[in-house]
Amino acid sequence: MTRRAAVRGVGHYLPARIVPNAEFEATLETSDEWIRSRSGIERRHFAAEGEATSSMAAEAARAALADAGLQPGDIDAIIVATSTPDLTFPSVATMVQDRLGMTTGFAYDVQAVCAGFVFALANANGMILSGQAERVLVIGAETFSRILDWNDRGTCVLFGDGAGALVLEATTGNGLPSDRGILSVDLHSDGRYRDILYVDGGVATTGTAGVLKMQGKEVFRQAVEKLAETAHAALAKAGLEAQDVDWIVPHQANLRIIKATAQRMGLPMDKVVVTVQDHGNTSAASIPLALSVGKAKGQIKRGDLVVTEAIGGGLAWGSVVIRW
Ligand SMILES: CC(C)(COP(=O)(O)OP(=O)(O)OC[C@H]1O[C@@H](n2cnc3c(N)ncnc32)[C@H](O)[C@@H]1OP(=O)(O)O)[C@@H](O)C(=O)NCCC(=O)NCCS
Repeated sequence: MTRRAAVRGVGHYLPARIVPNAEFEATLETSDEWIRSRSGIERRHFAAEGEATSSMAAEAARAALADAGLQPGDIDAIIVATSTPDLTFPSVATMVQDRLGMTTGFAYDVQAVCAGFVFALANANGMILSGQAERVLVIGAETFSRILDWNDRGTCVLFGDGAGALVLEATTGNGLPSDRGILSVDLHSDGRYRDILYVDGGVATTGTAGVLKMQGKEVFRQAVEKLAETAHAALAKAGLEAQDVDWIVPHQANLRIIKATAQRMGLPMDKVVVTVQDHGNTSAASIPLALSVGKAKGQIKRGDLVVTEAIGGGLAWGSVVIRW
């Protein structure tokens, strides 16, 4: 008997305001055609005034709990992946705990930027496998619209806001790749790449939140190289191959990166869940959003082999293999 962390529920939240590419044409030298052809993005959601990462995270959590048929009191731990917390502290996770009316269990944030959800999943898996928790709510939630430079056409057109959540639950399997649940994890980071993707402000330096800075071409190059590699490594750790994969659920940053990664893995695009056209890059929220949308559309079904892979500032990157 092998202890596993299996998915019991999934849900998401997107703010009501949808901004099509054309809206940027009024203020920037850009076009719908440029944004679409270079990134695959057609529209994104932006949070309303008064809306923040914790409120979106709590909505996604409620949806995941409803999907799981569970109450907040059934959860032992909440882990939120975010780089755009409401406040420097307390954590978004404790704010979600409060919003859900939970007075038991424990809650904390993890920060690995666009790879955050993969790191949070790995963390939740560890909590469950070590017996510290039976059920963990794992959330990715971001309000990137609050750290964008609206005069920088090379970045502000690429990002969006939103939240997604999974309920992971302890189960037992046979220790085989056919088990339900998280089958393997592969994580990496390399701080030498700090300057190609960062925010130019922070508590201990400028005392401001700062805005996102990116060397797009270099990030693109690193992403294409590292994502297929980590997905392959995670599959190998699970004793599986690319041919076994039902769905790749990649971080949704750029359709060209998503296509190049699928090609390097030797997998056709009809095995890839793609939401970047509707959400833009929602950083740590992008994978749980895509998992939730993929399930709702009838793409991801119980028993399917799902590979998530992501890369973000740090650089930090990784992959998690899940039997849904
Ligand atoms: C940002 C990105 C879409 C740019 O695409 P690209 O094909 O690399 O384009 P380039 O950077 O070569 O820019 C080409 C030109 O378009 C211009 N440009 C940039 N943004 C533009 C926009 N929104 N509209 C019109 N032109 C734009 C650039 O200024 C550049 O002009 P120049 O040649 O006169 O200097 C692409 O590099 C990318 O997606 N990178 C990865 C980003 C990412 O995924 N980050 C998050 C990872 S978590």
